[in-house]
Amino acid sequence: MDQTKLIELLNGDLETEYRSIVQYISHIATAKGAEFQSTIEELRQHLSQELQHATALAEQVDFLGGVPSVRVPPVSAATDTREALGQDLELEQNQLERYRERVSQTQEMGLGDVSEALRPLLQQTQDHVRDLQAALGL
Ligand SMILES: [Fe+2]
Ligand SMILES: [Fe+2]
Repeated sequence: MDQTKLIELLNGDLETEYRSIVQYISHIATAKGAEFQSTIEELRQHLSQELQHATALAEQVDFLGGVPSVRVPPVSAATDTREALGQDLELEQNQLERYRERVSQTQEMGLGDVSEALRPLLQQTQDHVRDLQAALGL
């Protein structure tokens, strides 16, 4: 893989983080039901970490000589809290897959610094997947 392709993929990752930020803001504000109160606190923690993820990705894109994307993908509205959490889980699982690929790709390319910078994203995304699975009783 060449660096241009990597920049493109990292910008795609960045856009999924923008989507996470929009989704979590929306879902935190609209979540209903006493059974989800502790989940909402977890979503708040996710939200602040997504902001760090987006910032880290934008910095890596710039470091590699690219221009960080500012495109926010469309976010579909959820009709209830379970559906909202399901959307969040699906997005986190997609990101987990992306970060696994990105860590090994950057290692293969000899970009150790980039790989190191992406490692916390991989780890925290794994935690987010587990949190949401637990919240949904999966
Ligand atoms: Fe994230
Ligand atoms: Fe996340």
